[in-house]
Amino acid sequence: MASYSFSRIPIDVDLVHTENRCINTSIPAPGTDELLEKLDKIESRSMHGQLPIIWHKAEGHNIYDKLGNKWIDFTSMIFVANVGHGNQNVINKVQEVLNLPMLGCYAYPNEIRANYLEKLIKFAGPNFEKAFLLSAGTEATEAAFKLMKMHGQKIGKKKNIVIAISGNWHGRTLGAQMLSDNVAQKSWVTHNQSDIQHIAFPYPWDINEENSEEFLLNNLSTLSENGISLQDDVCGFMLETFQGWGAVFYPTKFVKKIRDICDKNGILLAFDEMQAGFGRTGMNFGYEHYGVKADLICCGKGMGGGFPISGVIGKAAVMDLPEIGNMSSTHSGNPVVCAAGIAVLEEIENYQLVKASADKGLILHTKLNKLAEDFPELIRGIYGKGLIASIVFHKELKGKNSAPTVSAITEKCMQKGLLVVHTGRESIKIGPPLTITEAALLEGIDVIREVLEIISYDARG
Ligand SMILES: Cc1ncc(COP(=O)(O)O)c(C=O)c1O
Repeated sequence: MASYSFSRIPIDVDLVHTENRCINTSIPAPGTDELLEKLDKIESRSMHGQLPIIWHKAEGHNIYDKLGNKWIDFTSMIFVANVGHGNQNVINKVQEVLNLPMLGCYAYPNEIRANYLEKLIKFAGPNFEKAFLLSAGTEATEAAFKLMKMHGQKIGKKKNIVIAISGNWHGRTLGAQMLSDNVAQKSWVTHNQSDIQHIAFPYPWDINEENSEEFLLNNLSTLSENGISLQDDVCGFMLETFQGWGAVFYPTKFVKKIRDICDKNGILLAFDEMQAGFGRTGMNFGYEHYGVKADLICCGKGMGGGFPISGVIGKAAVMDLPEIGNMSSTHSGNPVVCAAGIAVLEEIENYQLVKASADKGLILHTKLNKLAEDFPELIRGIYGKGLIASIVFHKELKGKNSAPTVSAITEKCMQKGLLVVHTGRESIKIGPPLTITEAALLEGIDVIREVLEIISYDARG
């Protein structure tokens, strides 16, 4: 992440009082600096760098601090609160388990876990038969990595290589970090990574639908020039459903070609659906936009409505590759988080949140495209689908790296009562709860417009 530090010094800002937002103090609010200093002393700095808001409670599409400031949340807690913050059904279902009481049961059989798995697999669709539950997203991508390699080894001893995509991101533990292609973030990894190969991402400013297959084949031919055979050496493709930092989807033909290559060469195709899953893109899972089948889905984030649950979903023949007891974790499928997972799926079904995401997504994208039209000096393009979107700014503004200016945009939004996702680079991401009202969605977009007007004016100088 670019080294931009949000100011900790409270400044006087315009007060805001609307149905959806309230800013009634200086921002950051009084007391913020003291808490941040305390955290600086006792917590690893790797956790720091977020917008300086002290979360006190979160409900629906709003975040509140203790002083009554209230923000519209366009982050969903980094795409977690799909069914809304503090969702009452999630709270009730969790409460029922707490009241039993039952706080955990390790891998012993449990009815809530069984019910959840059944519901989850049904939600994933007819191509899926079994799931394996974990706690963090990074564990899910690691589990998929293991399954792809085990599947390859079953076919041929050296069918070991997983192809991943440059710029995708899969988590911070060793395997996930190796799959991710962020050179700076994985400089600590000293393991031999020859069993993970990266190919380039087809960015829409370089590659279009029509030449995307050729782009893929050219990239793969570099691997074959290095002696890697798809048939003999490759066991899996791991794709983040869209390029995370900019919510940029692949050209459909690119993904269909990968599917085709997988089918012809005994290779598994896994999608990392951490951000894209559970209705976020206007489909149950985001990869469905490509019209292909997935062999494995890795999911987390929105899955638990705020509770830590993740998982891998696939066909029985793949999911059962590890021996009994050989792929489990202490908190796998904890009944409390499974109860939360059940409530999330109920909310998605009962309130048709997948359709809501598609419908409100249309409004969001139409409005953002209008912003791109009105601020061409700032904005390179709008990307995403459903209720995930990014505004990608020009890489340079006034001849300088734009990342600090884009960080300043997120800061100014915060001062006006709106939270957007700070990426640390030339994009901001927008992913409100799927339950957001149309009024709050439009109000939040108006805040972005107000901020862009200020920035555009400053940029013209
Ligand atoms: C695409 C993707 N994969 C994996 C992860 C890792 O998930 P977690 O932070 O729950 O380990 C994330 C988290 O941001 C993600 O966005």
